[in-house]
Amino acid sequence: MADKHNAFVCGYPIKHSRSPLIHSYWLRKYGIEGSYRAIEVAPEEFLKFISHMSEHGYIGGNITIPHKEMAFSACKKLDPAANAIGAVNTVWLENGELIGGNTDAYGFLANLDALVPNWDKKRDGSVKKALVLGAGGAARAIIYALQQRGYQHIHIVNRTVERAQELADHFGDGISVHSWKNADNLVSEVSLIVNTTSLGMAGHGDQEDGFPLSFAQASPETIATDIVYVPLETPFLRKAAAAGLKTADGLGMLLHQAVPGFEKWFGVRPEVCAQTRQIILDDLA
Ligand code: ATR
Repeated sequence: MADKHNAFVCGYPIKHSRSPLIHSYWLRKYGIEGSYRAIEVAPEEFLKFISHMSEHGYIGGNITIPHKEMAFSACKKLDPAANAIGAVNTVWLENGELIGGNTDAYGFLANLDALVPNWDKKRDGSVKKALVLGAGGAARAIIYALQQRGYQHIHIVNRTVERAQELADHFGDGISVHSWKNADNLVSEVSLIVNTTSLGMAGHGDQEDGFPLSFAQASPETIATDIVYVPLETPFLRKAAAAGLKTADGLGMLLHQAVPGFEKWFGVRPEVCAQTRQIILDDLA
């Protein structure tokens, strides 16, 4: 009889993670005898936990806030995305060695591929430009993803400009850095606008004017996407939709980033379908 495979999501705190809902649904759907559990591990315990995960019966798992950078340091080998982003969100074992990957960039791209086919194609061959709002950990994954898809120019807008400059230095040519003062002027140049800030996230306070960016200069072809999915329609997306832009919410990124991990641990590539999305929507409701 094959061993039962057990995987985890590890963070601190962890009770809000929706990953167990996704993976448990796929385990049932594909008839796999396995488990996926949320485990709360304090930062000072994390290295011990991760280096002994097989002794605890685990074949791998997801790593979330605040452990992604510590996991990056703990892994023996990294996939190219984790290496470039500087953070690990998925771990597995190969010949007893701990390997780290990052599936956030994959999840971001796969969500847009599913919701807006050909979103990354330019018919006239002109330079592909994007505007990324925010310069935290999530922005790193988005910038890596956009460079993978051939975006030649990326504008980063951030409250703390030095933080954006660090990202620009890390990811090389074709990135420029701006304060929010200049943000409205960049909108007309880009075909994609990504919000990676916590502005508009539930529990982070409401902005009185909705969102501090004007879409007045945007082309109706421009796509606006948020990585936040609580609420599903963020003030950023609501304002972009009202201005006539195409929008893509952040829930798909959460679902798609789960795919490569599930495949690594359980050997089946799961499908992100309407039912997968509905499970999270029901939970949010
Ligand atoms: P994550 O790792 O999830 O991206 P983070 O590192 O806390 O989270 O980054 C949150 C982002 O939201 C940052 O870009 C932050 O701007 P700063 O780098 O200047 O802190 C941005 N952010 C959070 N609250 C904000 C606010 N009230 N106004 C503007 N930007 C804000």
